[in-house]
Amino acid sequence: MSIKEIKAQDLIPQKFIDEKVLEINNTVQDGTAINALSGGVDSSAVTMLGHKALGNRLKTYFIDNGIMREEEPQKIVLLFKRMGVNVELLDAKDEFFAALKGVTDPEQKREAITQTFYKKVFGRLVKESGSKYLLQGTILTDVDETKAGIKRQHNVFEQLGIDPQETFGYKILEPLVQIRKDGVRKVAQALGLPDAIFKRMPFPGPALSARVIGEATPERIKLVRQATVITEEELLDCDAFQYMAILHEDRVTGMRNGKRDFGLQIEIRCWDSVDARTATPTQLPFSTLQKLSNRITTEVPGVVSVTYNIATKPPSTIEAI
Ligand code: XMP
Repeated sequence: MSIKEIKAQDLIPQKFIDEKVLEINNTVQDGTAINALSGGVDSSAVTMLGHKALGNRLKTYFIDNGIMREEEPQKIVLLFKRMGVNVELLDAKDEFFAALKGVTDPEQKREAITQTFYKKVFGRLVKESGSKYLLQGTILTDVDETKAGIKRQHNVFEQLGIDPQETFGYKILEPLVQIRKDGVRKVAQALGLPDAIFKRMPFPGPALSARVIGEATPERIKLVRQATVITEEELLDCDAFQYMAILHEDRVTGMRNGKRDFGLQIEIRCWDSVDARTATPTQLPFSTLQKLSNRITTEVPGVVSVTYNIATKPPSTIEAI
């Protein structure tokens, strides 16, 4: 079935919201639905739409996979609570780290996270909830990229060879599937979500595990999380499309307190881009880079080297894995 696109310039957010709320209501009727919130703009918009339509009959979970940024799960749950939406925080850290244990290949890491989320943690929740409907924030770009074979992680059920109706006994509702990111941002704003959500910088699904080269152990995730806090604080006002800290696998010789310290390397990337398809490194002031380096080598244990990526995409990509 072909999907009828609604372009951002033709989108009337309030009309779209009213229509989708009605559609969700007509489908779920007096039943219940379930969804997972990550704090990204798509899942946030879906949560608000579902909440408007179903109130407490929508059960929303935030699954803490252990690879989010500092305090991210707690901050997002609180933000929604303030908007009157109850979100249950589920600690699944151990399960995700168990799946990531010993995995070093980038694609296998993504696969481990996808499988753990859908087949184990969320699959279990849906079964237990007895809900017949799952709300999901799939957007039109996800469908296009899936069809083109660019991204593996979207429409995952289909790609995992699972028919959700048959396997789990539920149906997936995708209220955002006719629009793209620019449309979702308009809808999210009209739904009353704050700037922090509808203008949110892109962040990958595999979260900080995409920012660790090699195995994503709890210890290494903690290190990159600390470097991420510093990077996001120092680059907050730089107007770039996306910025990040990456923990490398190779160690390099450094010195601390007059002694040799065979230490860790952090790479900073900061990108100017419109749609992430091509990107150029932001020409950050050297003083900003120096401040980043001083803070990271002082505040993140064991780091002796901080580099700034100056290659463009292509041939680079935005993320390092
Ligand atoms: P790349 O690294 O392919 O990234 O140049 C392009 C944009 O996509 C984000 N990205 C991901 N998002 N799952 C996601 O949801 C992923 O596996 C993934 N890998 C990259 C990246 O942050 C950038 O905005």
